[in-house]
Amino acid sequence: MAIISLINRKGGVGKSTISINLAAGLATYESRKPESKPVLLIDMDDQLSATITAMGGGLDDQFVPIITAENNFPSALINGFGASEGIVEDSLLPRKREKKVKIFKTNKARMENLEAELKTREEPELQLTYYLEPIKNDYAYIIIDNPPSAGIVPMNSLVASTHVLIPIEPDGLSLIGLADILRMIESIRKNFNPELKILGIIPSRYRMVRRQSRDVIEDLERLYGHLLLPYVKDLAEISAATTAGYDIFSFTNEKSQAYRCISNLVDAVLGKLEA
Ligand SMILES: Nc1ncnc2c1ncn2[C@@H]1O[C@H](COP(=O)(O)OP(=O)(O)OP(=O)(O)O)[C@@H](O)[C@H]1O
Ligand SMILES: [Mg+2]
Repeated sequence: MAIISLINRKGGVGKSTISINLAAGLATYESRKPESKPVLLIDMDDQLSATITAMGGGLDDQFVPIITAENNFPSALINGFGASEGIVEDSLLPRKREKKVKIFKTNKARMENLEAELKTREEPELQLTYYLEPIKNDYAYIIIDNPPSAGIVPMNSLVASTHVLIPIEPDGLSLIGLADILRMIESIRKNFNPELKILGIIPSRYRMVRRQSRDVIEDLERLYGHLLLPYVKDLAEISAATTAGYDIFSFTNEKSQAYRCISNLVDAVLGKLEA
């Protein structure tokens, strides 16, 4: 069992895209085992991009019942731990596999209020940890997508996680942002979760033609070489799959660059988890 958070306080770096594809890739890997457990994808971001993609994407509105549910994840999280009955659903991903990634029914309005509600609780940073405690062993992997913030919501995710993945878009300021995230992780380790491991840094939306991106990758290799995972190129097919509500493995085939990029990443994550 591993609980993996995708974190970056910067927006648009590929957290949600990697979350859904990693969840789909891990579910596929897990389904090949004789005794497999499901993968759970938790969406901690009130934009709900991961949920929307996992439930069919922005091109139709199949996701609406899932994001307006009466019995929903943010309420269960605030009202007491362990109450996950009736809120776990099969998502549509991986599209081409029988065993689907699980997802929580949620509620957009409640999610928008989650930060404020968490702050009214005792031990606000520990609510997700308590919530997951009785159910985490039902899953092979739990992937947590996070909002672009460094507030109490991603703090809950980091406190509850065994591992963290940091997608960064290699540009001029990303190294400064990365230093901030590493400090946040250090403080979580010190105060709440000494076992939290950095699984890796993922250069994301990488455009090789850009001189600046290549320079940042060089710096990353020099400074954080041991943490660097395979990079994900900026490819139209990756965003098209997300918009259509598909994982990349079901949207295209092994011959496509996008498929291979994400598949290399999933393999590297599995390699590191099993090392
Ligand atoms: N490798 C990629 N190639 C092309 N487009 C990508 C890639 N990764 C992400 N995108 C696109 O970039 C946009 C932002 O990606 P995504 O939503 O995954 O980022 P995010 O970090 O989750 O953003 P936010 O912080 O707002 O939640 C989306 O439109 C997505 O389709
Ligand atoms: Mg996102």
